[in-house]
Amino acid sequence: MAEPWTVLKILKWTAGYLQERGIEGARLDAELLLIEVLKLDRVGLYVNYDRPLEATELAAYRQLVGRRARREPVAYILGRSEFWSLPLLVRPDVLIPRPDTEVLVEEALQRAGDECRILDVGTGSGAIAIALAHELPNARLVAIDISEAALTVAQENARSNGVGERISFQSGNLQRLPVGPFELIVANPPYIPQGDLAALQPEVRDYEPQLALAGGKDGLDCYRALAAQSPQCLSSGGWMLLEVGIGQAELVQQLLTEVGLVEVFCRNDYAGVARVVGGRRAVTA
Ligand SMILES: C[S@@+](CC[C@H](N)C(=O)[O-])C[C@H]1O[C@@H](n2cnc3c(N)ncnc32)[C@H](O)[C@@H]1O
Repeated sequence: MAEPWTVLKILKWTAGYLQERGIEGARLDAELLLIEVLKLDRVGLYVNYDRPLEATELAAYRQLVGRRARREPVAYILGRSEFWSLPLLVRPDVLIPRPDTEVLVEEALQRAGDECRILDVGTGSGAIAIALAHELPNARLVAIDISEAALTVAQENARSNGVGERISFQSGNLQRLPVGPFELIVANPPYIPQGDLAALQPEVRDYEPQLALAGGKDGLDCYRALAAQSPQCLSSGGWMLLEVGIGQAELVQQLLTEVGLVEVFCRNDYAGVARVVGGRRAVTA
């Protein structure tokens, strides 16, 4: 009789299989998918290395591993992710929130007053707005997205994280921002230049929404629109904070300076990449 597939044996096999298909972090992915099937936590998995898998478990695991081998991101397979240590539902309608974006939240929190009015442009899963609402109990937020499907996910996430009452989710195009005025406008807009889309990792290119990625010919279309509208949408002294892609920080700083914002700055993420650009409307008497 063939040796049974134990937890450890199948983990080793799967990690090798996924690695051969060019998947980084193959062992971790193998573990996350097995944790899902066996309904264990990480420790539970490690103390059960010798446990043989039942036929139904094996079949369910094979199916998930097949999806990952076709480069579907783990977050879409599991239907969930995490941002700012908050659990978020994710579906292929929304970008999977990235840890880099937490730097934008940090910068926003340094500038947010107690009863701040905040606009989150291109909210996607709602990650940024929900993190800010979670940290700022007296803030009122408006979160817009052009994608109705994304707004449905964002609303569900806000509800499950207990901040649904303080975020107004609205269908909207960043070419015409709500008038506000807002003390804080935050955005992680689509910023991949058209010509770079084809070379993205398959996980991103083939699974994440194009609407969340494509930023026009040079990747800066959304920044131009956001910068142009900032003077009328920001309150006196209000801040606009924007996540930017690699190599875009200087150009976006220039855009904010050109429309008259002051104290324009750039902040690196924890990998040392210039990641957040911000500027404020001058304080008027
Ligand atoms: C890069 S994703 C960011 C999602 C989320 N804020 C995050 O950081 O994880 C950009 C979002 O902008 C939205 N979007 C794209 N074009 C837009 C437009 N013209 N007006 C409003 N939202 C737009 C997309 O649907 C997508 O949800």
